Amino acid sequence: MSVNKKIKRTTVPAIVEMKRQGRRIAVLTAYDALMASILDASGIDIILVGDSAGMVMGGHENTLAVTMDEMLLYTRSVRRSVNRALLVADMPFLSYQTSIPEAVKNAGRFLQEAGAEAVKLEGGRAIAPTVRRLTELGIPVMGHIGLTPQSVHSFGGYGLQGGEKARADELKKDALALQEAGAFSIVLEKIPAALAKEISASLSIPTIGIGAGPHCDGQVLVSHDMLGLYDKFKPKFVRRYAEMGKEMMEAFIRYVEDVKEGNFPAEDESY
Ligand code: KIV
Repeated sequence: MSVNKKIKRTTVPAIVEMKRQGRRIAVLTAYDALMASILDASGIDIILVGDSAGMVMGGHENTLAVTMDEMLLYTRSVRRSVNRALLVADMPFLSYQTSIPEAVKNAGRFLQEAGAEAVKLEGGRAIAPTVRRLTELGIPVMGHIGLTPQSVHSFGGYGLQGGEKARADELKKDALALQEAGAFSIVLEKIPAALAKEISASLSIPTIGIGAGPHCDGQVLVSHDMLGLYDKFKPKFVRRYAEMGKEMMEAFIRYVEDVKEGNFPAEDESY
């Protein structure tokens, strides 16, 4: 008898169902095939090709510089290694804000050319009509509110959002508008835990928190942050699960020493 080894892919409806069943959703980022293959095998539910790639891979100081072409390249690379997790691609700055037709065209490219299964857009009520159109056309959308890094200049930095009542009320309205427009989930970034709890309880779609406390339906981190690979800044919401940057540095230093001292390669590493 042959064993059916077919891998069960995680779908958009399955992610929504996880909230209904009270099962928490684990999300991490990847921008390349190697990282994505390890992540996919780890049991992660969603792999996000975040526009944080602009900072992590591109070395930019914020996410604004990353382009459609770069995001498509990263997403295609990730796609080649992902067999199980849901693959969500971040839409870069100005790829969806200028007009709904432009947003449809660019979101469609992520599905058609790069194999993403959903896209993520930053913004609340202002982009709800775009979210509605995309979802009507069969392009699943993950929303993103709170500290939306593409608005870093308007916010004047990466501070907490929703600490004051007026802003908290805005964010509650944004979350409801995104759900109403058809989003299948919403990232809540750097908002008070109590506000995230209230928003999560008010929605039937899952919330995915980053710096939004423990009451969200899921959590997301940038993989390079939690692995200790990216340390240009370290917000308190990042838990370091490894210190890979330090380990890499030690390995590189040892290699340089070995080469300089003639200790590499050894005889059994030679032909
Ligand atoms: O770009 C990104 O990686 C993100 C997540 C941190 C939510 O938007």
